[in-house]
Amino acid sequence: MSSDFPAYAPSEEHELLRQTVRELAEAKIAPHAAEVDETGEFPQNALDALVAGDLHAVHVPESYGGAGADALATVIVIEEVARVCASSSLIPAVNKLGTVPVLLSGSEELKKKYLAPVARGEAMFSYALSEPEAGSDAASMKTRAVRDGDHWVLNGVKMWITNAGVSEYYTVMAVTEPGAGARGISAFVVEKSDPGVSFGPKERKLGIKGSPTRQVILEDVRIPADRIIGAEGTGFKTALATLDHTRITIAAQALGIAQGALDHAVGYVKERRQFGKSIADFQGVQFMIADMAMKIEAARQLTYHAAIKSERAMNGEKVPDLTFVSSACKCLASDAAMEVTTDAVQLLGGYGYTRDFPVERMMRDAKITQIYEGTNQIQRMVMARQLLK
Ligand code: CAA
Ligand code: FAD
Repeated sequence: MSSDFPAYAPSEEHELLRQTVRELAEAKIAPHAAEVDETGEFPQNALDALVAGDLHAVHVPESYGGAGADALATVIVIEEVARVCASSSLIPAVNKLGTVPVLLSGSEELKKKYLAPVARGEAMFSYALSEPEAGSDAASMKTRAVRDGDHWVLNGVKMWITNAGVSEYYTVMAVTEPGAGARGISAFVVEKSDPGVSFGPKERKLGIKGSPTRQVILEDVRIPADRIIGAEGTGFKTALATLDHTRITIAAQALGIAQGALDHAVGYVKERRQFGKSIADFQGVQFMIADMAMKIEAARQLTYHAAIKSERAMNGEKVPDLTFVSSACKCLASDAAMEVTTDAVQLLGGYGYTRDFPVERMMRDAKITQIYEGTNQIQRMVMARQLLK
């Protein structure tokens, strides 16, 4: 596999965007982050602030009423929101995840109908691939879609769906040709208001507690035939091609969580005094801070590099190593986030272990980035397949 550096150059506009999002996140989202974690309530404040700032779904192209921001800009938005509240960062991240299947493979009618309300902030869009018995082995799903005249009828249970119940729209992958494996799966747009759609109770989670994770239950859900995304039998490929773009946004979320933890730790070690001096004066502490920053910066470089490739692919260019870099940055950034947040708790000592400081929340939030959009074992499998094929 070859690489084609120079990788990326964030423009002045990207840096201005970062500044704008940071200010908004610190003023409007950070003050509610601890409460969102304590109560497990959906961060409506964050959604309102993001919609007011037009930052809730920046990736939607201008032709469908969106801001038309590129993949790097989208990464920066998610990173900066995650720096203060990981749950809230799933608003722009999952809006991208839910809509990319439509952007990649949907008909012009579907794009016009479903992207504009998301761009306006009137609707959110979730992505429903996983099932109770089909997580890593997503192609073993059982949810069925059966053609009936001008309609499809869907039955099954989708599990772990982020923002389920809050989102108006869902990209749902379902089997249309049993026995055909991955080639027998198709993708559909399902609306929350479609008769037969219901939601399971909220999962009780370790972290990202403000982001609702629920089952989407489909019982004889009858939808018009033109709600299929792309051709019959192409849904699994669309689902995986989507993840090539959106694993980069999970890397961004991980980076943001890690940066938030590092920033808190740096502030704390300069203030805290033991043995008659600031603990920042101890080399053992300095080396930890240096390692934390080094890991974040390495992951950031790879993530931004992957974002540039994602943007090129979205614009129709063939980018053969997109799958590799997307998995690689998600894996590297999420492992870094887990290490950095754990070290941040360590640097705050006993205080770090309490809810009086945000680093324990960040450590709990970081864990999910190693699990969703494919566990890090699956990312390593995807990378190895690319290398060995
Ligand atoms: N893009 C397009 N097509 C692809 C592709 C890609 N990146 N990778 C594979 N394909 C194609 C293959 O070519 C193959 O097509 P043909 O049959 O025509 O050759 C087809 O898709 C099936 O591919 P595989 O044989 O490789 O499929 P597999 O069953 O062996 O497994 C897998 C693939 C990589 C393990 C996949 O199932 C996977 O990524 N699993 C992890 C699940 C996952 O990531 N879930 C995320 C849920 S969303 C989420 O979690 C959201 C959130 O956090 C907020
Ligand atoms: P399993 O697949 O059962 O894996 C269990 C363990 O076995 C893992 O450590 C895994 O890495 C390992 N393993 C499995 N296969 C292999 C292998 N071949 N080689 C090595 N190790 C292997 N899904 C959606 O579709 N939409 C969503 O919006 C969404 N949001 C989520 C939000 C949360 C909070 C959570 C927890 C999950 C979410 N998911 C979503 C599902 C998520 O993508 C899956 O949990 C994940 O892909 C793993 O599947 P699983 O939980 O069934 O674990």
